[in-house]
Amino acid sequence: MKVLFSEEQLQQGIKRMADEINQRFSSEPLTVICVMTGSIILVADLIRRLEMPVKLGSVHASSYYGETSRSELKVDTSMLPDLMDSNVLIVDDIFDTGHTLSAVHQHIKPLGAANIGTAVLLYKHGRQELDFQVDFIGFEIPDQFVVGYGLDYQGIYRNLPYIGVIESQDLAENQ
Ligand code: IMP
Ligand code: MG
Repeated sequence: MKVLFSEEQLQQGIKRMADEINQRFSSEPLTVICVMTGSIILVADLIRRLEMPVKLGSVHASSYYGETSRSELKVDTSMLPDLMDSNVLIVDDIFDTGHTLSAVHQHIKPLGAANIGTAVLLYKHGRQELDFQVDFIGFEIPDQFVVGYGLDYQGIYRNLPYIGVIESQDLAENQ
């Protein structure tokens, strides 16, 4: 595995994001929404650096192949707390094509929040298919497949404490 961001670098990036979020929202209460499953570790670290009163909610986003060959996104919002008139921050692990964050945003919009912000740990360059503004970004990365710190390849590697790029020998070890 090639390390792209070490634990220390990740913590520095998350501190930077938290500082920006603290500045933006000041002491106003904030409802942080964890996009399951990839952002679970990021959210755990990020919210411990936030200084306003924080409520926590989660949505589950998954893509599946419907009757057409294009993948469709399913967003489950049934675990959310009441968002009426609140400041909301949607947190995902990575912004790739943008379809996931955009779909989650679309599902949350009708729920009455006063403000909806978005944050991602990683923003992958050259892959965007939608014009969508992300408010807080940890790191920008080139177009490569990364794992660790919540991100998976076929369900594994989420528990790595760093972000890495899979090399062919890693795949052989996991056969
Ligand atoms: P998007 O909908 O194309 O923006 O993709 C976002 C989702 O795809 C993320 O929440 C991840 O679950 C997954 N994903 C995209 N790129 C990577 C990657 O490099 N490693 C692991 N998962 C990824
Ligand atoms: Mg994900």
